[in-house]
Amino acid sequence: MELRWDSVTVDVTDPAGNPLRILKGISGVACPGEVVALLGPSGAGKTTLLAALAGRTRISGGAVTVDGIAKHKGEGAATAAERRKMPKQSVAFVTQEDTLLTQLTVFETLWYASAVRLPAHYSQEERLARVHDVIKRLGLAKVAHTQVGTVMSRGLSGGERKRLNVAQELLTDPPVLLADEPTSGLDHVAALSLVDVLADIAAAGRTVVATVHQPSSRLFRRFTTCCVLAEGRLVYFGPASAIATYMESPPVSRPCPAHYNIADHTLEVVQAIDPTDLGAAWEAAPKTSGGTYDVAAHVRALGADVDEGSVAALDAAKTGAQDSGDKQASRAEAALSAGAAGAEGDADAAETAEPGPADSASARGSPSAPAVVVGVVDPRDEPALGVPVKPLPRTSTASSASSDDDVVVGVSAAVRKAEAALANTRPASAAPPACMRSWGSDPRWPTSWCQQFFALTARALRTSKGSTLTWLMLAQHMCITLVASIIWWQLRQGAGAIQDRLGILFFFVIYTGFTSLFGALTTFPAERSVLRRERQSGAYRLSAYYFAKCAADIPVSCVFPTLIACIVYWTVGLRADAGAFFGYIGTILLVSQVAQSLGVLVSAAVLDFQRSITVSSVLMLGFMLTSGFYSTEIPAVLSWIKYIGFPTYGYSLMVFNEFPADALYQCGSANDGFSGYPCPVSGAQVHDAILPPFATSGPAVGVLAGMYVFYRALGYVALRSNA
Ligand SMILES: Nc1ncnc2c1ncn2[C@@H]1O[C@H](COP(=O)(O)OP(=O)(O)OP(=O)(O)O)[C@@H](O)[C@H]1O
Ligand SMILES: [Mg+2]
Repeated sequence: MELRWDSVTVDVTDPAGNPLRILKGISGVACPGEVVALLGPSGAGKTTLLAALAGRTRISGGAVTVDGIAKHKGEGAATAAERRKMPKQSVAFVTQEDTLLTQLTVFETLWYASAVRLPAHYSQEERLARVHDVIKRLGLAKVAHTQVGTVMSRGLSGGERKRLNVAQELLTDPPVLLADEPTSGLDHVAALSLVDVLADIAAAGRTVVATVHQPSSRLFRRFTTCCVLAEGRLVYFGPASAIATYMESPPVSRPCPAHYNIADHTLEVVQAIDPTDLGAAWEAAPKTSGGTYDVAAHVRALGADVDEGSVAALDAAKTGAQDSGDKQASRAEAALSAGAAGAEGDADAAETAEPGPADSASARGSPSAPAVVVGVVDPRDEPALGVPVKPLPRTSTASSASSDDDVVVGVSAAVRKAEAALANTRPASAAPPACMRSWGSDPRWPTSWCQQFFALTARALRTSKGSTLTWLMLAQHMCITLVASIIWWQLRQGAGAIQDRLGILFFFVIYTGFTSLFGALTTFPAERSVLRRERQSGAYRLSAYYFAKCAADIPVSCVFPTLIACIVYWTVGLRADAGAFFGYIGTILLVSQVAQSLGVLVSAAVLDFQRSITVSSVLMLGFMLTSGFYSTEIPAVLSWIKYIGFPTYGYSLMVFNEFPADALYQCGSANDGFSGYPCPVSGAQVHDAILPPFATSGPAVGVLAGMYVFYRALGYVALRSNA
């Protein structure tokens, strides 16, 4: 697909409230087969331009079109009907930051991504083959089963994380790939290999645009086209190979010293000359109307003795790529090979020597070795332009993929291990039943709602398990269980132990509430950045993610509360009755679910983690103090709080469960008793003493269930507006 941007401007408001123009009328075009480098000093606007091309930043002027259809609202924009038909994944964007789920391995990350993003007609084997293929392409075979990890628990290296980010976007084989600083933080070899991957993708007929910071000359030569920005202005757009000529020609007139990296030189020039002057110089350079770059016209205007065959090749290739016609493509290929014949020697030489004006000058003097051989300067002697679009392999099997070379043998071993692991645990759960696969289909999304829901549930189960069911959490819960068991060990049955029983019931309502709520606060923010990235790349619907999260939270969040309840119930000696035991477990689980949904709501509504902790602490302590356990005489100004807090209902359910209304509790000694009631104390009197909001359990269960639904629904709304 052809990505075109015409006179794009982006305006923002700075923190002081002043309007700020970040991009000042940037134009350019990226065609299938091209790798476009976005170059410029820090703060030049590269990320902003890339975000505008991806449709993630609102543009205030100009237009961005993908195959002629405008991505943004405004003049020339797609109609609502056109937008409905636009696949959301046509433009993939690899952001500068790594946003990955740290609990997953490389294989799992790609496996779940494939389940969400690849259409339902892909069989399990095809999906596996696709994942293997991407692992192999990105050189991730060795770490296929390494967890992404965090700073504290190391997993992938920075370069591997970058490659995994790119790999996720490659799964769907997007026609346009945008990458923001994919090589930052990588060593020279790793950066080269990553750019080689991008060049391979382009060579397969895709369009690639990437921002780069100070590329080495070898790396720079991997790019076919270069777009240079300075302070939001366009100062060069054209073949990467022609930039030296442009710099040395008037009006810039800054020749690149011999054996000097042309990319470094360009950045130095851009910083040395006023960007307004450079921008004006570029604007004055001959171009076709509409600000679109015309390679042939520009190169001719520079006075370069260009190989006409190569220019024709570029033109033909572009036309061919746009029309996708065999005729044009073969014309382009023919023209390219004609140009390439003369260019080959020079391209080889370019691999061993830094490019500089000397190269250009000698080339200009010789028609057989042109300085600006547009479209055939790929140092690996592969024609980057004009190649017919080759779809990435989609249906190759693991075994066929593994027959290529040594690396692939490594991949297939790793993949076999992954296949075995998956066969034992997940594949079935990541896919919806056949009859439901197309449920919720929409042309804008790669997969049906149902498929997204199943895949995201499987992934959420895996990640929640990794972040919630940890040894550390188990140790914490067991410590608390042990201490509580020792304090309240085998309570007596009479009236004298009623207060102690109320104590442990209240304590575990609060403990469950706190751990579930704060558990959601600590795990959800990390997921939110992944959610934002995946949503922006059009991977799935928010509703599918949210329902999947709700579904996966239920079993995972039940494990520890059930375990604690099972232990404490018998160590403390609560009512020895099967119904009461299950009532206790049910209440604890209900409280845990409501608290967790409140945690998700707070986390989704209050984006700042520190603030969400503060909000949650205030809420929980407020609910705790007004619930009636510590004081039954709450001033009217605060007494309403008890009715909106889930601990009140959880606690009263616990009390109803432990103290049946008709049960009688005898006093063992003169000092025994409960809250001034005469002995024997009845269960109904215990109920009265705690001032429950309802006289029976039913309405309290209803209120807790209602709170769960309400918090979850509100959480969805908050996420929708903040995601
Ligand atoms: N929302 C915003 N509000 C105010 N200023 C902004 C905003 N977004 C970007 N900028 C400013 O616009 C300029 C361009 O930002 P951008 O991130 O696009 O630069 P860049 O070329 O990607 O830089 P780097 O190479 O350091 O990543 C910077 O000066 C930045 O501070
Ligand atoms: Mg940037």
